[in-house]
Formats: sequence, C-alpha cells, structure tokens
Amino acid sequence: MQNPAGDARHTEQIDAHGLKALRLRACGSEAVVYLHGAQVASFRTSEHGELLWVSEKAVYAAGKAIRGGVPICFPWFGAHPTQSELPAHGFARTSSFRFEGSEIHGDNVVATLLLESSPQTQPLFAHDFRARLRVQLGRELSLQLEVENTGADAFDYEVALHTYLGVSDVRSVELEGLAGASYDDKVTGERGCRQPDGPLRFVGETDRVYDSSARISVIDRARQRRLIVDKIHSSTSVVWNSWFEKAKRMSDFGDDEWPGMLCVEAANVSPHAVRLAPETRHATTTIISAETL
Ligand code: BG6
Repeated sequence: MQNPAGDARHTEQIDAHGLKALRLRACGSEAVVYLHGAQVASFRTSEHGELLWVSEKAVYAAGKAIRGGVPICFPWFGAHPTQSELPAHGFARTSSFRFEGSEIHGDNVVATLLLESSPQTQPLFAHDFRARLRVQLGRELSLQLEVENTGADAFDYEVALHTYLGVSDVRSVELEGLAGASYDDKVTGERGCRQPDGPLRFVGETDRVYDSSARISVIDRARQRRLIVDKIHSSTSVVWNSWFEKAKRMSDFGDDEWPGMLCVEAANVSPHAVRLAPETRHATTTIISAETL
C-alpha cells in the first residue's frame, strides 16, 4: 500500500460499526468500503457531498447485508431460481472479502478485495471461482467485479452492483436513459413492458429489471445535482424504490427513509446471466459520478 506523507491519495484500514473497513482518499473525494461483502458504504466528493444512501437502521453484523451503499449481488440476483431457501441476491454481500492491497494510479486510488470459492460457498454454489472487486476512487467511483472460473466446468452467474443513490426525494427526481428500453415489472408481474419516451418519474413502489446497458442519470433539482451511473459489460439495469409499505416491512429500513433513496443497479441478470468457461473471466463495472445542475 502506498501512503506517501502529505499526499491526499491513500488507503487506511479502519474499524467502522465494529467491522473491518477501508477508507480511501483521493483528491477531493473519499469512500468507505467494508470487507464484509466488499460493500462500499460511502462515496463523497468535496463538490457534491455524499452520493450514496445508507439506512440509519442498517445492521452491521456477520450474516446480514448492510442496507445501503453498493451491495454486491452474486452469484444470483433476487431469489435463487430453484432453491428458495437460499439467501436472496446470493452470498457475496454477506461474505468476508480479503483486502489484497491498494495502489495509486494518477489521481486515483485503487483497492482490490477478493472472495474465493471455499467449503462454505460450495453448498450454495457448486463451482470454483475467484471474484475480485476493484474499487477505483478519483473524481468518480468505479467498481469492477471480475469473476474468474477457476474450476473444470463452465458455470452461469448473475450479478448486480446494487447502488443505493442518495436523493432529496424520490417523488421529485427524474431518471433519464431508459426511454424505449424493455423491462420486467416485479411489482405488477408484467414482462416485456416498454419504457415510454421522456424521463421516468416515481409515483409508487418501483422494481424493474430493464434490458439496457445505457448510461442512467438521476436529475435532482432540489440538490442541484445530476447523479450518473455508467456501466461497462452490463446488459441489465435494475431500478428500485421500496415506497412506504415495503420499507415498513423491512426491519433494517427506517419507515420514513424511503424517499431518500433510489437504487440504480448495473447488472447482468437472466437472460443476460454470464456464462464462464473454465479459465475465463468476465468483469461487470459501474461508474458513479455527479454533475452540478
Ligand atoms: C432489488 C430487487 O434489487 O433489491 C427488489 O429488485 C428487492 O426486488 C431489493 O426488494 C432489495 O432486496 P433485499 O434482499 O436487499 O431486501
């Protein structure tokens, strides 16, 4: 790890809410990443403040995913396709990753965290893999999850970088970038819907899986900022807000917090699940940034 005296760019190992974490600092930006789930819980810039949302009721404990930031959904998204007793969104978000090290690249700090298949993961996912999250902090925050098949057989996996953006009020923001895209609506159960022209506005519980690899931006006039989610090798975009009834049913989500978050997730979900032959790898990347309006 490099930590040159007097240089703003560095990585520090810290304890946060009783868990091991990293604080990354670059010029004008800072991020916190837990080893638990390799979960980014904060990304703040001097210009735009905090860009992510974390619930005040989030639980920081083994076996529980932190409610907010950027949980990693892997190796499946949502309920397991055949075994409903397995954890929703896979096991990465509740697994301990290993901090491999960090480096400085130009104006950026890059930290890598690793999760490998083990006797604990085998009963859940009977394949050998290496999943490496590369967290690159600069003016933007780039998260790249690279999965490598280290076994002898091909396998399929799903992935979502489940970003909880912080917004002033989800009822007054507009989301751009999905016009014309087809989506499955998990609230109504309708499939193959088409997003009309114009921005998407939020008037109720929203849980949609879009067939789209486009840039998404969220216009938040009250905060005078545009939040931008770019993607690389991600064919699915998930958009989620719980609204009030679902928030009430979740013990790690304050009843009145739902207007302050909007999930925009860079994903590869069935039918875009990733098929990996032995000794091959695939990386899904999301890049989060903000602009002043
Ligand atoms: C979204 C899903 O990605 O995550 C929603 O599309 C789900 O259906 C939400 O409710 C939160 O999931 P969880 O498991 O963290 O409560």
